[in-house]
Amino acid sequence: MKITDAYSKVWLDIIRQPTIKKSLYWANSQNEGRTKEFLKRFKDLKNLKILELGGGAGNFGTRLLNNPEINIKTYTFADHQRTLSFISDKTLKDLRVKTVRAHQIEKLRINKFDVVVSINCLSETTTIFREYLYKNIFPNCKNLFVIDGGKEFKEEFKIKLNEIFTNVQILPWEERPGRKLYIASN
Ligand SMILES: C[S@@+](CC[C@H](N)C(=O)[O-])C[C@H]1O[C@@H](n2cnc3c(N)ncnc32)[C@H](O)[C@@H]1O
Repeated sequence: MKITDAYSKVWLDIIRQPTIKKSLYWANSQNEGRTKEFLKRFKDLKNLKILELGGGAGNFGTRLLNNPEINIKTYTFADHQRTLSFISDKTLKDLRVKTVRAHQIEKLRINKFDVVVSINCLSETTTIFREYLYKNIFPNCKNLFVIDGGKEFKEEFKIKLNEIFTNVQILPWEERPGRKLYIASN
């Protein structure tokens, strides 16, 4: 996948801005509620292999990885190289995190994941990128945990999830107006 296929124009513009680091941190305080919700659903599973799409500066992932209540075997972040560079090398090493650049998402095609996580990212990606996920990545994931919004995205995502997964739940998520929590499993 080419870099321009993976990132919408909005994201290509954003990642060029020098202030990007600051803007990626805004959601830190909201990650507590997100983590609680995630733990409620997945803490009884063991040796979890997690893929996070668009994890930003790694706040959500780091919270999970540092939480003794959850048993994680591998945590893979897929994001833009510039964004991934905000997660310190030490954190990546200490937590044994793997990273992949989003435009090289094909590298994950053969991987199987227990949970795919994505928070406020998918609705902002390109159709080409999402089609790639629907066809090649999501069918290899046992569970999905997504928080996102956007009218058109909601319609599309609901249809695709029901095609890929057996159990799909779409719940209100009041963090920001119009957000939904998508839970799916096979
Ligand atoms: C609004 S931020 C959300 C960050 C984080 N999940 C949070 O809630 O704070 C969107 C993130 O998606 C990433 N992103 C944009 N397009 C992407 C793509 N095609 N694949 C993976 N990540 C992408 C951006 O680099 C950014 O880190």
